[in-house]
Amino acid sequence: MPSVYIETYGCQMNVSDSELMYGKLQAEGYVTQETPHGADVVLINTCAIRENAEQRVIGRLGELRRDLKPGAILGVTGCMAQRLGARLLATDTRVQLVVGPDAYRMLPALIEGARNGERFSATDFDLEEHYEDFTARRFEGVKAWIPVQRGCDYRCTYCIVPTTRGPERSRKLADVVRETREVVAQGINEVVLLGQTVNSYNDGTHDFADLLRAVGAVDGLRRLRYTSPHPNDFSDRVIAAMAGTPAVCEHVHLPMQSGSTSMLKRMLRRYSREDYLDCVARLRAAIPGLGITTDIIVGFPGETDEEFEETLSLCREVRFDDAFTFKFSAREGTPATRMPPEWTIASEVVDRRYESLMATVRGISREKNMGRLGERMEVLVEKEARKGELLQARSRDFKTVLVPGTPELIGTYLTVELTGTTGATFTGTPVQERQPLPMAG
Ligand code: 5AD
Ligand code: SF4
Repeated sequence: MPSVYIETYGCQMNVSDSELMYGKLQAEGYVTQETPHGADVVLINTCAIRENAEQRVIGRLGELRRDLKPGAILGVTGCMAQRLGARLLATDTRVQLVVGPDAYRMLPALIEGARNGERFSATDFDLEEHYEDFTARRFEGVKAWIPVQRGCDYRCTYCIVPTTRGPERSRKLADVVRETREVVAQGINEVVLLGQTVNSYNDGTHDFADLLRAVGAVDGLRRLRYTSPHPNDFSDRVIAAMAGTPAVCEHVHLPMQSGSTSMLKRMLRRYSREDYLDCVARLRAAIPGLGITTDIIVGFPGETDEEFEETLSLCREVRFDDAFTFKFSAREGTPATRMPPEWTIASEVVDRRYESLMATVRGISREKNMGRLGERMEVLVEKEARKGELLQARSRDFKTVLVPGTPELIGTYLTVELTGTTGATFTGTPVQERQPLPMAG
C-alpha cells in the first residue's frame, strides 16, 4: 500500500485539515507515517499568516528534497499553496501538487495524476465544501478539534486569511453535533470548535449560541472550547450560552491586536478600545473565573509611540492571562501594503516595542499566576511533558499544569493543588478529593 506523510504548519485549522486529508487518503488505501523518510507521498500543509511562516516552509522544502525517496510525490497544501498557486510550481520544480484549503477532495485524483508525471495547482474556492463525508484521522487522543466554519468575511487590513481561505461559511449544526457524538463515543471528552471568527457562526438557522448549547448537551462531553472569536460577534445571546452551558470552559482567546482606537481603525477591526473593554467586562461579569488570552500585533503601519503605549495600557487594564505577540508582517495584496510608505515602522522600533510588550505581558501573567498558588483545580492530563518525568495537564481556564505521574494517567481528570509556577506554567500535586464522611449511626 502507498504511504503518505503530512507535515503541518500554522494554526489549529491546519492541524484539523491535515487530520481530514489523512482520513481521506487512509480511506483511499494509503497508510500514514510519522516521518517523510520512505513515504510515497509527502505533503506540506502550510501557513501564510506571516512572512517567516512562509520562509520556514521554503527552507523545509529544500531539506525535504534531500530526504525524499526517488519517485516520491511532493505536494504543498494550505494557505501558502492557495496564495501562490501555480507560482509555487514554477519556483520549485520538485513540487508536483499545489492544493488550496477548499480542494482537498481532489487529492487522491491529483496524486494519481502526479504519478503519471503531471504537475497541478488546484486553488478554487468551494463555498459548499466542509468535507462532511471525510472521517478525520485525529492526531490527539485526548481532545478533538472540530471545524465549524471555514473562511473569513472580515477584512482586517493586515490579514491574508480572507485571500487564502475565502469567504465565511458554516457547517450545519446537526453535522457538528454528529461529529461531537462520534468523538465522545471514541472516548474523547474535550472538544474545541474551530473557525476563523468562530462566534459569527451561522448555518442559516442557528447561531453560535445555539451551537454551544447543542454541542454542550452531547452526553459524555465534559469540556467544550472554541477558537478564535471576534470581539464584535459576542452578542448577549452568545455570552449567555457560554455562561449557561456547563461544559463550556472558563476561557476565551479574544484577539485584541491593538489597544489604540486609531490603530484599530487602520486595522479595520471594527471595534474601539472601549468596545473591546466592554466585551471583556460583559464576558467577565457572566463567567466567573474566566481566563482571557489574546493576540497583539506591534509595528503595524503608522503606529506611534502613543498608540503603542495604549496597547501596553490596555494589557495592564485587562490583565490577560497570556498573550501571543507578533511583529507586523506585510502580506502581499493586503490593504496594509498600500498604506503610505512613510508609515512603515523601522525594524529597531518594532523590536524595541516587541520586547517591551513581551515584558509587560509576561509580568502581568506572572503576577496573576503567583497569586493562584495553593489553589485547587481540575485538570485534564493531555500528554507527557517535554522534560522530566512529568505529565502536562490543562485546567478549564487554560492553565498548563505539570504533574507527576505515569502515562496511564493521560486522558484522565485529576484534582491538583498548584504548588509552583515559572510565571507561565504551573507545577501541581494531585490531591485526594475529600469524600463525604460516612453517616453516623
Ligand atoms: N502580521 C503579523 N501578525 C499577523 N496576524 C495576522 N496577520 C498578521 C500579519 N500580517 C496575527 C494576528 C492574528 C494572529 C493569528 O496572527 O494577531 O490574530
Ligand atoms: Fe484575519 Fe481579521 Fe479574519 Fe481574523 S478576523 S482571519 S485577523 S481578516
